Amino acid sequence: MNNRVNLAGKRAIITGASSGIGFAIAKELARNGVSVALLARRERKLEENVREIVSNGGVADFVTVDLCDEEANCAAIAAAASKLDGLDILINAAGMAKQANLSDGDYEDWKAMLNLNVIALAVATREALPYFPKDGGHIVNISSMSGHRVPGKGGFYSATKFAVRAMTEGLRQELREADNPTRVSSISPGFVNTELLDHYFGGESSAYERIGHPILQPEEIADLVLHQLTMPKSAEVTDILVRPTAQRT
Ligand SMILES: NC(=O)c1ccc[n+]([C@@H]2O[C@H](COP(=O)([O-])OP(=O)(O)OC[C@H]3O[C@@H](n4cnc5c(N)ncnc54)[C@H](OP(=O)(O)O)[C@@H]3O)[C@@H](O)[C@H]2O)c1
Repeated sequence: MNNRVNLAGKRAIITGASSGIGFAIAKELARNGVSVALLARRERKLEENVREIVSNGGVADFVTVDLCDEEANCAAIAAAASKLDGLDILINAAGMAKQANLSDGDYEDWKAMLNLNVIALAVATREALPYFPKDGGHIVNISSMSGHRVPGKGGFYSATKFAVRAMTEGLRQELREADNPTRVSSISPGFVNTELLDHYFGGESSAYERIGHPILQPEEIADLVLHQLTMPKSAEVTDILVRPTAQRT
């Protein structure tokens, strides 16, 4: 395909870029000539990640933020767009997963997942939209297989990821209604080898040991996001479902 979108010179904000999928996407975009702004809470991680991207020839900066604070979220998107001198792409990767049952789960766990996975994503999206160029930007939400089916013990996390799917489609329809050509996509992975799984399963053993079969690598998700972003402008990839071949459910 020779009408693919050329990403060189574009500007992207990536939330949740201090680790895992967000950082892998930041690296992949930078490799493809995108100037990237990395957002998360852990300043030291963000500094290290930016240093790594820059030492590999990329253009990168960071903004430290707790996205669950609405005011801070708004200020961080504005600061990042200002550092980048505009914005073409928003990757909503910040997220968390806890095993919090619906039958006896902890209110604070529910609230934390809802605040970050759903509300903070909506705030970042709303704040980023005005910076996109007239001919459209692109938003990619990192959803989950758990936004398509409900895993045992993950009922509340799953509810937040079903919400991400609903928000992806809802925003798409709002933008089409407003004749705004900004594209909206999501990607819905199964198990990916990141810190999130270690927090989810807890304990001493690694996620890989718990799951007992090979799982996806964050770089594989980044590769698929690159595919979504570079599709010809006339095509919008709504969602990609991807899971380890060995994952049963
Ligand atoms: N790993 C999987 O198996 C899997 C599968 C499907 C979907 N996902 C989704 O993929 C996305 C990325 O997760 P991951 O697997 O890459 O895990 P991860 O390595 O734990 O990444 C989560 C990111 O979110 C950031 N974050 C957490 N709370 C935040 C807050 N209040 N404000 C700002 N940033 C915050 C973390 O940075 P700080 O701690 O520095 O703030 C980190 O950069 C999530 O939406 C997750 O639901 C993961």
